[in-house]
Amino acid sequence: MKTIAVIGTGRMGTGLAHLLSKGPEAVLWATRDPHQVVERKLPWVNKVTLCAYKDALQADIIIPALWYSDLMEWIPEMSDALAGKILIDITNPFNTAFDDLLLDCSTSAAEEIQRALPRTFVVGCFKNTFWSVLESSTTQEPVSDVFVTSNDPQPKAQLLQLFQGLPFRFLDAGPLRNNRTIERMTVLARELGIRYGYYPRISYRLWV
Ligand SMILES: NC(=O)c1ccc[n+]([C@@H]2O[C@H](COP(=O)([O-])OP(=O)(O)OC[C@H]3O[C@@H](n4cnc5c(N)ncnc54)[C@H](OP(=O)(O)O)[C@@H]3O)[C@@H](O)[C@H]2O)c1
Repeated sequence: MKTIAVIGTGRMGTGLAHLLSKGPEAVLWATRDPHQVVERKLPWVNKVTLCAYKDALQADIIIPALWYSDLMEWIPEMSDALAGKILIDITNPFNTAFDDLLLDCSTSAAEEIQRALPRTFVVGCFKNTFWSVLESSTTQEPVSDVFVTSNDPQPKAQLLQLFQGLPFRFLDAGPLRNNRTIERMTVLARELGIRYGYYPRISYRLWV
């Protein structure tokens, strides 16, 4: 059995930890402040193991549910512990106005994280899945598409297999450079959601 670690207890961290707590894998959920998690009295929290950030790096698969800049600050410290492991990158490197990305079109957060962690298998996933869609994913029909990217076919195949029971349609979306588009699709989805009054309950589903 694999161990999956979700790092961060914000909106995405909570949604992902909850979703994964329903599956067969052991889930570590890392926070800087376990007391605030206990105080939230989440009914499913006993299905995961709360831990510190550094302890989460023992897992086989690590999902940092952190903002891009916070993750990049921490990456030099994580490098050795993450060698040979899978890091699932969910980040969109938004600017402070949330109307554009901090990175230009010649790269993406996923590629920059892979560049900073050359010994780790970075897999892009859940970048277009807003937190409220994660929360309601078990009740919504049709399920949302989730684009899965990696430069390495093996970890991507492993994740597609591991996540097959989750209520999303996971699509192999090619290499990490496709996150130049996928991350910008999140900017567009956010704007469309706000324009039409659906944000943050908006997601992509290709007509195929
Ligand atoms: N929001 C969405 O719908 C959505 C959708 C797709 C992708 N994403 C991506 O998911 C990532 C997390 O987004 P989010 O909406 O979950 O963010 P959030 O609610 O603000 O949570 C971020 C978490 O990061 C941790 N953290 C670590 N260092 C921090 C620092 N210096 N300042 C503040 N928090 C710090 C905190 O967890 P602890 O206090 O437990 O340590 C915090 O709860 C982002 O990269 C975002 O682009 C978000």
